[in-house]
Amino acid sequence: MDIATPAPGTGAVAPRARLRSDAPQQSLDGRWRFRVSPSLRSAPAHWRTEDAEGWGEVEVPGHWNLQGYGSPAYSNVQMPFPLDPPYPPDANPIGDHRFEFVPSDGVLAHRRRLLRFDGIESAAEVWLNDTLLGTTRGSRLTHEFDVSAVLTAGVNRLAVRVAQFSDATYVENQDMWWLPGVFRSVTLLARPDGGIDDVFVRADYDPATGAGLLEAAVEVDGDRPARIVIPELGVDAAAGTALRLDGIEPWSAERPRLYDVEVRTAAETVRLRVGFRRVEVVDAQLLVNGAPIMFRGVNRHEHHPERGRVFDAEVVREELLLMKRHHINAIRTSHYPPHPDVLDLFDELGFWVILECDLEAHGFDRVGWRGVPSDEPAWREAYLDRMRRTVHRDKNHAAVILWSLGNESYRGANLEAMARWTKQFDPTRLVHYEGDPASRYVDVYSLMYAPHDRIRELGEERLQPAPVRATADELHRLSLPVIQCEFAHAMGTGPGGMQEYWDLFEQYPRLAGGFVWEWIEHGIVAPDDGTGRRRMLYGGDFGEAVHDGNFVMDGLVDADRRPRPGLIHYAAVIAPVVVTVAADRRRVTISNRYDTLSLGHVALSWERVVDGERVDAGILTLPSCPARSTVDVELPESARAPRPHAVADVVTVTAATAGDSPWATAGHEVGSGQDVVRRARPAAAPADATASDRGVGPLELDPATGRVTALGGLALDGPTVDVWRAPTDNDRDYGLEELDLPSMAERWHDAAIDRMVTRLVGIDADGGAVRVRTRTGTPIFDSAIDATATWSALEDGAVRLDIALEPHGGWTGEWARLGLDFELPGAPGDVDLVGYGPVPSYPDLRSGARFGWWRIPAGELTVGHVRPQESGSRIDVSEATIRLRDATLRIRSLTAPFALTVSPHSRRALAAAAHDWELPDEDRTFVALDLAQAGVGTASCGPGVLPRHRLFPRAAEISLTFERLPL
Ligand code: GAL
Repeated sequence: MDIATPAPGTGAVAPRARLRSDAPQQSLDGRWRFRVSPSLRSAPAHWRTEDAEGWGEVEVPGHWNLQGYGSPAYSNVQMPFPLDPPYPPDANPIGDHRFEFVPSDGVLAHRRRLLRFDGIESAAEVWLNDTLLGTTRGSRLTHEFDVSAVLTAGVNRLAVRVAQFSDATYVENQDMWWLPGVFRSVTLLARPDGGIDDVFVRADYDPATGAGLLEAAVEVDGDRPARIVIPELGVDAAAGTALRLDGIEPWSAERPRLYDVEVRTAAETVRLRVGFRRVEVVDAQLLVNGAPIMFRGVNRHEHHPERGRVFDAEVVREELLLMKRHHINAIRTSHYPPHPDVLDLFDELGFWVILECDLEAHGFDRVGWRGVPSDEPAWREAYLDRMRRTVHRDKNHAAVILWSLGNESYRGANLEAMARWTKQFDPTRLVHYEGDPASRYVDVYSLMYAPHDRIRELGEERLQPAPVRATADELHRLSLPVIQCEFAHAMGTGPGGMQEYWDLFEQYPRLAGGFVWEWIEHGIVAPDDGTGRRRMLYGGDFGEAVHDGNFVMDGLVDADRRPRPGLIHYAAVIAPVVVTVAADRRRVTISNRYDTLSLGHVALSWERVVDGERVDAGILTLPSCPARSTVDVELPESARAPRPHAVADVVTVTAATAGDSPWATAGHEVGSGQDVVRRARPAAAPADATASDRGVGPLELDPATGRVTALGGLALDGPTVDVWRAPTDNDRDYGLEELDLPSMAERWHDAAIDRMVTRLVGIDADGGAVRVRTRTGTPIFDSAIDATATWSALEDGAVRLDIALEPHGGWTGEWARLGLDFELPGAPGDVDLVGYGPVPSYPDLRSGARFGWWRIPAGELTVGHVRPQESGSRIDVSEATIRLRDATLRIRSLTAPFALTVSPHSRRALAAAAHDWELPDEDRTFVALDLAQAGVGTASCGPGVLPRHRLFPRAAEISLTFERLPL
C-alpha cells in the first residue's frame, strides 16, 4: 500500500453527481470484521484472507478509535507528526476491514455495478474478491469503483485497508479530531444498461422576466436518449434542450422553492429537486436573483460526541432546524463536503451554502509555509481531483452558491488551477477561497477574524474612487463583495463584539455578512465513570503528545447541540426584523432585514409591563413592508399614558411568525424591541437603630476586619472588593490586534489583581450608621482600591449599604470588573432578577438580553463550559432575590443598576479546574455585584475587547439594600 504519494487515489470511476435513482442498490453498512496494526510495516501481509489473531468487529460507518481501538487525538494547526511530505510517520494505525456479503438479486440483475464509498479517513486500498479495485484519497469525498467484472453471485469478500495517516494528511489538516475509518456509508449500486450516469442541471432564474432557464446535461450509458420531466410545469422534453419556463418561483434561503424534476431513460429514472436561482456579483455586491443577500452564517463541522463525524439523519435535521430557529441563513461547510444527504436538507430548509473542498494544508504554517503542497506541481492532480469530486457530487443543489477551494492552504498554482477548473465547469456559481489575500482567482474577498476597523475600511474603500495607480489585481479585489468566512470565535464566554460587526455589515453595501466560528463544540464524551455524569473531553485528554487543548470547544452549541448564550445573542444580532420603539412611545419602527421576504408572514404584538405587572397588551397592524424596507407603526395611547412605577415601566414590541413553518410553530420571534423607563427605588426610612463596630440592626460585622458576618442570622460574608474574573477562553488568548502583548489573563496575573488582599483602615459608628473603610491592594505593587462602606438599618427590615470605591496608587493595566463579592452558605437555588436576562450578558454580548422580571433556574445561573471560566453575568440588574438552602436574600439598588453573577463556584475553583466535571462541590453561593465590567471580546481567535468595552481603573459608587426574606 503506497501511502506516501502526492498523487490522487487510483481506480475510481470519474466523479459524478449524487443521484436519487430507481436502480437497485444495496447498503453494505453494518458490523465489519476489523483488525488494527500499529504501523504499515507491522500490518499482516495476508490480511485479506488470513484469520490470524486480533480480529474483532467495528460498526461501519464508524471511526475505529471511537470503538475501542486506540483513542482519538485533537490538534489544530500543529501536525501530529514531523512535516516530511508526503510521508506519514511509522507509528500509523492501519485498520484492516473485511466484510462478506451476498449481492441482492436486484443488483445482480444488472451487468454494470459500482461500489461506492462516501468517506474513508485518510487513505484506503480497496479489494473485492482478491482483486484490487483501487485506492482513495480525500477523506470526505466519494469514490466509486466499477465492480461489474468482479462482483459475483453468492458470497463476495470485500477488504479495505485504511491508513490513519498518509500523504493525504498533509492536505487534510483541518482543526478537528483525527478520526480514522470507513465513517460514511458503503453502497453497492446497480447501473442499468442505458442508465443515467450523470446529470448536471443548470436552473437559472431571470429576475427581470421571472423566467426560469433550465438545461440538463445528461450522460446516458450507450448515448441513448433521455427525457426531462417536470410534472408541475408540464415539461416533458428531450434532455439537453434549453428550456425557458415562465412564471417560475425562484429558490432562496428564505423561500426554498423546489421543483421535482425527473430525468428518464427507458432503463432508469432519477429524481432531483431543482431550485432556480441566479448568483452574481454586481458593483461589489453579492446578488441572488438580482437582489443583495446577507450571510447570517455559521461554520459547520460534522460532529457527534459519541460517533464523531458519522452522519445521523435525525440529529442533523434537528440541528439545521435549530439553526433556522435562530435566524441562521448560511452555512460554510468547514472544511470539507458534508455527508451527501445534508445537501438535500440545505435545499429543502433553505440555507445559502459555501460548499468547501476537503483541503487544508495548515500544518505548513508552522514552517513559514515552506514546501506547502499548494504550489508543488507534484500535488496538482491531487488538488484538482479533490475539487472535481467536491463539485461533481453536489453540483445539482440549489443551496450551493459558492464553491470553496478549501481552507488555510496558503497560495499557489494548484489552488489557481482548482479555481480555473471550477469556473469553467460551473459558471453558475462563484468561487471562494480565503487564504490568498491577492484574491486574483476568486469572486468574493473573504477574510477571517478581521478587526472591526478593517471591516469598516473595506466597506469604505468601495465608496471612494479607486486608487490612481491600482494594479489589475487590486482593481479586481475592489470589485469583490466582502465576507468574513470566519468571525466571532464562539469559544467559552463570548463571543463579544458581534453587534458591532453587524452594524458595519448593515452599513456598507459591499459587506455581505459572515460566518461565526463555529457552530458546534467537538467534545467527545468519556465512558461513564459510574457517577452518571456526562464528562466531555477535549485535546490532551487522551494523552496526545501534540494537541491543542480545548481550542476545539468553540461552538454556539455544545457537543450535545444545546445552545450556548452566544447563539441567543447571535440570533438577536441577525434577527430578520429590527424593532425600535420610539422613546415617546408614539410609534415603533419596523425594519425588514430579510433578503427577499416581505413581512406578510409576521404578526406584531405589544405589551406594557409596569413593576412586573402586565398592564396592557395588544396586536398591532403591520402595513406592507417589502424586503429591506422600513415602516412605522403607531402605538396606542395606553402605551404612554402616565403611570407611576417604583422600578420600571417597559413597552415591548415583538415581531413573530403568524403561521407555522417547518422549523417553528406560529409565534416564533423574529425580532423585538423595548422602551425601558427605569427609576431607582426610593429607600425606606432609616430605622431607629444604633450602630456599632459590630453592626447595625440585623447586620453583624466583624470588628477586626470590618466584614459582614451575618444578616438577620444568615451567614453572609463580604463585601470583598475585586477587579478580577476567572479568565475566560478569550481572556487567556492574545487578541489579534495586540500580538505584542500577553493575554489579558496573563496581564491580570502579572498585575496581581487575581490575589488582592484587604486591610481594614477603620470602622466608625455614628448614630444609626457604621462606616467601614478598607484598602484592597495587589501584592507586589502599590495599586489598591479604597472603599468607604456605610451601613445603616432601614425601617422595612433591610440594611442599606452606601459604598464608594476609589482607585489608589499606581494602576496601569485594565480591570475585568469592579465589583463587590459576597459568599453565602449552601449552593444557590433559583434567582429572581429585575434587569436584563434571561440569557447571561456582558457589555459587548448583550443583544439577546431583554429587560424583564426573570426567574433564573439554579442550573442556568452559570454556563457549563467544559473548561470552567467566568460566566453567568446578567447586566443592568436593579433587584435580585437569591434563594438559598435555608434563607432568601434580596438585594436592591437604590441608585444605578449592577451586573449580577450568582455561582456555585468560586473564581479560584473555576480558574483552577480543567473540566466542569472536576469542579469541587463548594456548598457555597458566590454573589458578585459588579459596578462596572469589561466586555469579553473574541481574542481566543480574533480581536480582543473593543476599546469602548474595556475597563480602565476608575471610581464608582452604589447604594444597595440587603434583606433576609422569610423562606
Ligand atoms: C481558523 C480555522 C478554523 C479554526 C479556527 C479557530 O483559522 O480556519 O478551522 O481553526 O481558526 O478555531
